[in-house]
Amino acid sequence: MEKLKFALVGCGSIGKRHVAVLDAEEQAEVVAICDQDEAKVAALSELYDTLPYYTSYEQMLDEVEADIIVIATPHALHAPMAIQAANKKFNVLVEKPMALSLQDCHAMNEAAYKNEVKLWVVKQNRYNVPVKLTKEAIDQGRLGKIFMIKCDILWNRYQGYYDDSVWRGSIEKEGGALFTQASHFIDLLIWWCGDVIEAKGKMETQNHNIETEDSGIVTLKFNSGALGSLVWTTCVFNKNYEGSITIVGERGTIKIGGKYLNKIEFWEVEGFPLQEGIEFSDKPNAYGKYQGTSSNHDKVVKAIIGQVNRERKDTVDGFEGMKSVAAIEMIYNQLRNNESA
Ligand SMILES: NC(=O)c1ccc[n+]([C@@H]2O[C@H](COP(=O)([O-])OP(=O)(O)OC[C@H]3O[C@@H](n4cnc5c(N)ncnc54)[C@H](O)[C@@H]3O)[C@@H](O)[C@H]2O)c1
Repeated sequence: MEKLKFALVGCGSIGKRHVAVLDAEEQAEVVAICDQDEAKVAALSELYDTLPYYTSYEQMLDEVEADIIVIATPHALHAPMAIQAANKKFNVLVEKPMALSLQDCHAMNEAAYKNEVKLWVVKQNRYNVPVKLTKEAIDQGRLGKIFMIKCDILWNRYQGYYDDSVWRGSIEKEGGALFTQASHFIDLLIWWCGDVIEAKGKMETQNHNIETEDSGIVTLKFNSGALGSLVWTTCVFNKNYEGSITIVGERGTIKIGGKYLNKIEFWEVEGFPLQEGIEFSDKPNAYGKYQGTSSNHDKVVKAIIGQVNRERKDTVDGFEGMKSVAAIEMIYNQLRNNESA
C-alpha cells in the first residue's frame, strides 16, 4: 500500500510531535516541513535525514507533492492557511482550535467542499481510553438522560510560557485560554451532551501579565437538556493539578480525571460495570517546563489513514471541529458583554 504523503507547516512545540508521529507511522511519509523561522525548520530537517524544508508556506504549497497539509501554526493562521491549502487541492489536517471564529470555520469548510478535499481537525483526546469508554456508555444509552456535566481544568502555565511567545495571551492571535487549554474539553462536552445553547459566567486575568483571561467559570445549557459547569484556569501553583469531567446521568455517574482525562476516577453505571484489566495508557504531551493534554496524535493519524483506506469513520471533520469554536465564541461574547455592561 502506498504511503500517505504529509507536508507540515509550523515546527514549534506540537509541529515537532506531528513529525515524530508521522515518521513512526508505517503508512505515512513526511515529504516537507515549513516554518518561517529558518533555524527551527533547518534543525528539525537535520533531525530527520535532511527532510526538504521551506521558510515560505506559499512556496511549499506551490512545489510540494503531498496528500495532506498539516497546519500546526498559531491559532489565527489556521483559517487562512487551511483555505490556501484547500484552494491548491490539498487535504488538510488542522490543529485545534479549528479557527478563532465561527465565520472562519464556515469559510474553511466551504473551501474544502468547493475544492473537493477533506478537512480534518486534531481532537486527539477523543481517542483517550476513558473518553472512548464514556462515549460508548452514552451512545448505548447506558447513562439514561444526562442531567449534569461538570468540567474542571485546573492547570499551571508559568509567565514565561506567555512572555516567550509572540501569540499566547493575545486576544487577536490566541483568543484566550478557552481556545488553547479548554477546547479539547469543550469538544468532549459537546460530543456527549450536544451543542451549547446558553452560557453565563465570569472571567478574569488573575495571575499573569497577559491580555486574555487566565481564569473563568461558566454555567452551560446543552441542547440535550443537560446543565453544565466549566471552570478553567492556568493559575494553579507550580504544576497542572487536574483536568476532569464528571457526568451525572439518570442511571449512572462517571468521573474521568487524572491531569489530562487519562484515568477513570469513578464509574457506576447500571448494568454496565467497568471491565477489569483496562490499560489506561494515555500520556500527556511534554514540553519541557509544562505539560499539555494527551499525546494521542498517532491515533489521529491512524484514524485518517483508516478513513482514506475506507476502513474507519472516527475522524473529526470541519463540521465537528467547528462546534467547539461556536461554543467558545458564544461564551466569550456573553462574558465580554457582561464585563462591558
Ligand atoms: N492538539 C493539541 O493538544 C495541541 C497541543 C499543542 C499545540 N496545539 C496547537 O498547535 C498550534 C501551535 O502551537 P505550538 O504550541 O506548537 O506553538 P509554537 O509557537 O510553539 O509553534 C508555532 C510555530 O509556527 C511557526 N509559524 C508562525 N507563523 C508562521 C508562518 N506564517 N509560516 C510558517 N511558520 C509559521 C512559528 O515560527 C512556530 O515555530 C496552536 O494552534 C495550538 O493550539 C495543539
